[in-house]
Amino acid sequence: MLAGIGTIAALFLPIVFAAGPVLDPWLRRRRGSSTNNGGVADRSFVRIAPLDALAADGVPRFFPVIANKMDAWTTLPQQRVGAIFLVRKDDQGEPRVAAFSAACPHLGCIVDFNAQQQQFACPCHAAAFGLDGARVSGPSKRGLDALDVELRKSEDGTAEVYVAYQRFRPGLDVRVPLG
Ligand code: FES
Repeated sequence: MLAGIGTIAALFLPIVFAAGPVLDPWLRRRRGSSTNNGGVADRSFVRIAPLDALAADGVPRFFPVIANKMDAWTTLPQQRVGAIFLVRKDDQGEPRVAAFSAACPHLGCIVDFNAQQQQFACPCHAAAFGLDGARVSGPSKRGLDALDVELRKSEDGTAEVYVAYQRFRPGLDVRVPLG
């Protein structure tokens, strides 16, 4: 009897272990840790830049988002997964940084910042957004997607800007994470 169980285990255990990596993306999705933050390998905050790289003048500045990226069965280290605008406007000496996804909520083109008009402008279908990301005109049904920001100290004491990067479904008036 025991020999029979041992034989069955010897036959099937290698198959179970071999299937683990194959099923891994599916299992991760089932557990809710999938790539619905635009392919970023985990949901943690992504380091964007030192705080000192941002003048506290309220002018939006463009940054690529570089992070480990999930591609089905593999993790691709340090890939460009998106782009954002950071806006720093300090309050009584306290740094305040806002982040917006640079992906237009209409159909996903990358928006520019028009310094003359003090608006974000989409080159594809002329959507415009205010400095606070609110929709001003054009076909987008919602404003720019704001992202959570954290300021963290590096080991040498430098303040760094981290952003919880996330992509959202375009064309909607509400924010639905891409999954
Ligand atoms: S994609 Fe931006 S206005 Fe259409």
